[in-house]
Amino acid sequence: MAQTLTILGLESSCDDTAAAVVRQTGDRQAQVLSSVVFGQTELHSAYGGVVPEIAARAHAEKLDLCVVQALDEAGLGLQDLDAIAVTAGPGLIGGVMSGVMCAKGLSAATGLPLIGVNHLAGHALTPRLTDGIAFPYLMLLVSGGHCQYLIAHGPEAFTRLGGTIDDAPGEAFDKTARLLGLPQPGGPSVEAESQGGDPKRFRFPRPLLDRPDCNLSFSGLKTALMRMRDQIVAEKGGLTRRDRADLCAGFQQAVVDTLTEKTRRALQLYMTESPSEPVVAVAGGVAANTAIRTALETVCANQGARFIAPPLELCTDNAAMIAYAGLERFRIGARDGLDLTARPRWPLDQSSPSMLGSGKKGAKA
Ligand code: KG4
Ligand code: ZN
Repeated sequence: MAQTLTILGLESSCDDTAAAVVRQTGDRQAQVLSSVVFGQTELHSAYGGVVPEIAARAHAEKLDLCVVQALDEAGLGLQDLDAIAVTAGPGLIGGVMSGVMCAKGLSAATGLPLIGVNHLAGHALTPRLTDGIAFPYLMLLVSGGHCQYLIAHGPEAFTRLGGTIDDAPGEAFDKTARLLGLPQPGGPSVEAESQGGDPKRFRFPRPLLDRPDCNLSFSGLKTALMRMRDQIVAEKGGLTRRDRADLCAGFQQAVVDTLTEKTRRALQLYMTESPSEPVVAVAGGVAANTAIRTALETVCANQGARFIAPPLELCTDNAAMIAYAGLERFRIGARDGLDLTARPRWPLDQSSPSMLGSGKKGAKA
C-alpha cells in the first residue's frame, strides 16, 4: 500500500514566520493541509529594510503560535505527523536558529524525525508540490533576496547555471521605490507607477548582456536611476508624475529585457539535457510582476517549454514549501539529528562558485 506521509514544516529565515502541514500518499499529488504565515512588514517598516535582531526576536515569539495554528487548521495533532522539517539555512542566522531550535524541541519532545531543509530547495521544489512535475526542470528564483537559475535534477541535486552578482531584482525594485519616494515593498509600487510611462525616455543599461553566461546584475540600474533623478531635480527642481512614471517604466523594462535574455540562455543550456517535456518554473515575489511574467511566458512558448508560476502565496516565503522539501528528503531516507546546525550560507549547488554579496539578506548562496 502507498505510504502516506504527513510533515510539519517551519520557516523563519527572513521576515516571515511560517508553519505548514503537507501530506502526500505514495507518488500522488501532495496536499497543503494548512499554511500559516505571520509577516513582519510593520515591525521593520520604520527602518527601510529587515532588521535581523528584530526579525529573530519576532520569530522566537511567534513560531510556537504558528505551529499550533497550522496543526489546528489541518485538524491534526503532533501524534499525526511523520516528521518535522525546518529551514536550516541560508538566511538571517538569528531567524534560522529560532526555527531550528523550535524544531529540535518538538523533535526531542515527540521523538519525531527532524529534517533540515535548504530554503532555496524549498522554493526550487515548489513546482512539484503545486503541479506534480517530474525532474529535470529549470527553475528561476526571483525575489528580494534571491536570483538564480537552477536545473533541478532531484530533491537534493541542483545545478546552478547562474545568478545575480550583486542585488536581487526585488531588492532593485525596493531601492528604486525608495529613491522615488514610493511606498515599500517597492515592486508593486514601481509596477503601478510605470503604467502609462514611456520605457524609452531614459536609457537604462542592460547589465551583463554582453557576456554569454547566465549571470545577472541589478545594482547598476539603481545607480543609473539615481543619476537620472538627480539630473531632473537639478534642472527642474523636482519630479513630475510623468517623470516618475517614465523612470519606473524604463527601469522595469531593463529588468524585463535582462531576465528575458538570460532566461533564453538558461533554457538553451537546460534543453541540451533533452528533457522530454521541458518545464520552466518561477518562484519569488518578483514573479508577481505582470510584465516580467508575460515576458518569461513568451520566451518559454517560443522555445516549446511549459511555463509554471505557482500561486503567489507559494511563490513567496512560506512553510508549505519547507514541509514539502522535507517530505522529499524523508522519502529518500534523509534524517538529521539534534546536532543539526543553522547555516547563514548554504549554496544549493556545492560545485558552483558562490556569489558573494548577492541579495538584501546578505550572501545567501
Ligand atoms: O519572495 P518574497 O516575498 O520575499 C523574499 O524576498 O524572500 O519577495 C519580495 C520581493 C520584494 O523585493 C518586492 O518588492 C518584490 O518581491 N515584488 C515585486 C512585485 N511584488 C513583489 N517586484 C516586482 N513587481 C511586483 N509586482
Ligand atoms: Zn525565499
